[in-house]
Amino acid sequence: MPLDKMKRVVFPKEWSLQVYLEQSKREVEARLSQLPLLSSRHTPAGEAMRYALATPGKRFRALMVIATADIFEKGSDAVVMGAALAVESIHLASLILDDLPCMDDASLRRGQPTLHTRVGEADAILAAMALVAEAHHQLRGDLAQRRSEMKKLNRMSQVLTHAYSLDGLSGGQSDDLQDRPDLDLAALELIHAKKTGTLFTASVELACIWCGARAREQEQLVSYAKNLGLAFQIKDDLLDREDSKQTGKDSAKDTHKTTFVSLLGAKACHELYSELMEAALAQLKPLGDGARHIRELTHAIWHRLN
Ligand code: IPE
Ligand code: IPE
Ligand code: MG
Ligand code: MG
Ligand code: MG
Repeated sequence: MPLDKMKRVVFPKEWSLQVYLEQSKREVEARLSQLPLLSSRHTPAGEAMRYALATPGKRFRALMVIATADIFEKGSDAVVMGAALAVESIHLASLILDDLPCMDDASLRRGQPTLHTRVGEADAILAAMALVAEAHHQLRGDLAQRRSEMKKLNRMSQVLTHAYSLDGLSGGQSDDLQDRPDLDLAALELIHAKKTGTLFTASVELACIWCGARAREQEQLVSYAKNLGLAFQIKDDLLDREDSKQTGKDSAKDTHKTTFVSLLGAKACHELYSELMEAALAQLKPLGDGARHIRELTHAIWHRLN
């Protein structure tokens, strides 16, 4: 069945927020398992994509789209799920490329062998490229049915494209690969904002555009996502020092790099991490009870162990 035609579950108010997150994640994963929706899905690159999609990610970016839309009681819209799948697909493509020998040369991802070590570099790269195409396909959905929404969909498409552009993830990843021992905190913050932050800000913006959020609400949510995105990469850098059994990734990959941890030390990073997460939560306050879903997600992100 086309994803467009599948109805999302509308969550009863009395369901606990934890169940909400679990159910939403299950639903995202059910839909990811159907991708790509193309007849050529059984080519080697298609199989590679399916292997990668099935690995157990936390799906935080998809959940952020849904939880933001639920502030406006639109988390069950088909377009919202399309946007959630889109950001998750871009994210997964970025991980596949990030793990390649020419980038971080990683052997473990999500507790499993990295994609290129399983299928070879060629099909890993092609799977990543096809995931980017799939992201746009998911975002735009069945255009014949969505003609009246073209203005919003075009703006959403721009936001998604910007997220992985040179001003976003691709540029940030490129900067990150430069061997620059002179990096200071401000320069590092900019790299983090581009390589990790833009996909989180895009997640909230996509939902805001679709839901018709007011300018002030969108500003608060973007500011929330900026704090959270920076915090997320600082925590990721801290996790690089933990056991790979816990994180599901190779450990000590960043020892040669300038990171927040190498500049500030682990203790100060833990403190900064908490401050940024508090700052992110503070941005949600004016949104009141409607923000309960995204607040719950924020706590899940804050206390993640991998
Ligand atoms: C890892 O992201 C890459 C970074 C941007 C730090 P996640 O920690 O969200 O990875 P998955 O999707 O859960 O594997
Ligand atoms: C890369 O950061 C973030 C991406 C945009 C993929 P890392 O290289 O630190 O991510 P991990 O630790 O491999 O997940
Ligand atoms: Mg990297
Ligand atoms: Mg990496
Ligand atoms: Mg890392």
